Amino acid sequence: MLIINFKTYRESSGENAISLANSAFDLSKEYGIPVCVCPNMLDLKDIARIYAGGTWAQHCDPDERGRATGWIPPELYKDIGVAGVVLNHSEHKLQFENLKRLVDRVRNLDLKVLIFADSIEESINVSALTPDYIGYEPPELIASKDTSVAKAKPDVIENVVKAIPNIPILVGAGVKNQEDVRVSLKLGARGIAVASSVILASDQKSAIADLLQGWK
Ligand code: G3P
Repeated sequence: MLIINFKTYRESSGENAISLANSAFDLSKEYGIPVCVCPNMLDLKDIARIYAGGTWAQHCDPDERGRATGWIPPELYKDIGVAGVVLNHSEHKLQFENLKRLVDRVRNLDLKVLIFADSIEESINVSALTPDYIGYEPPELIASKDTSVAKAKPDVIENVVKAIPNIPILVGAGVKNQEDVRVSLKLGARGIAVASSVILASDQKSAIADLLQGWK
């Protein structure tokens, strides 16, 4: 699985989010590889309408539905048809207790859940919550222009995969091209999380296609 985190870049917001999501969905069909998109909260509903099965939320809050001004409990995502929720991204960390409560709630809603972790230790800790996926991303390599998780931390990818054999591991941070994907998959990762190299590319569709070549 390839998950494209739109974050809040201008190049992946509003109309740009729709065209990027369409490129992702077209290529997913063409290559036969699941590609999920993770638009910002304001674009999520529009994108979920066109691609419910592959649209994920970037975060959700543990507050109960109702008196929760400005928070987004997971039930709201279920209502608009998203497929899954990403939790604990290094840009939006959650306390372990909240993670635990959220995983149960998200699962009861029949949504998929991916928990991000910054290190092997955190990956092992969150594996106790048995999410559908764990995403290992070293924060210092996120949006790196020079290197990638596959180049800088191959040993950690391998160790995370070995330490958690029962949960599919995705890896991300600085992933740029099909070679990064190929190396990561060879080390046992089951998917890739990406943002800047796709979103900031002059041709976003070609950048996604190049990553998908890494599965071939
Ligand atoms: O969630 C994916 C993201 O954090 C990776 O970002 O820009 O390094 O591909 P980037």
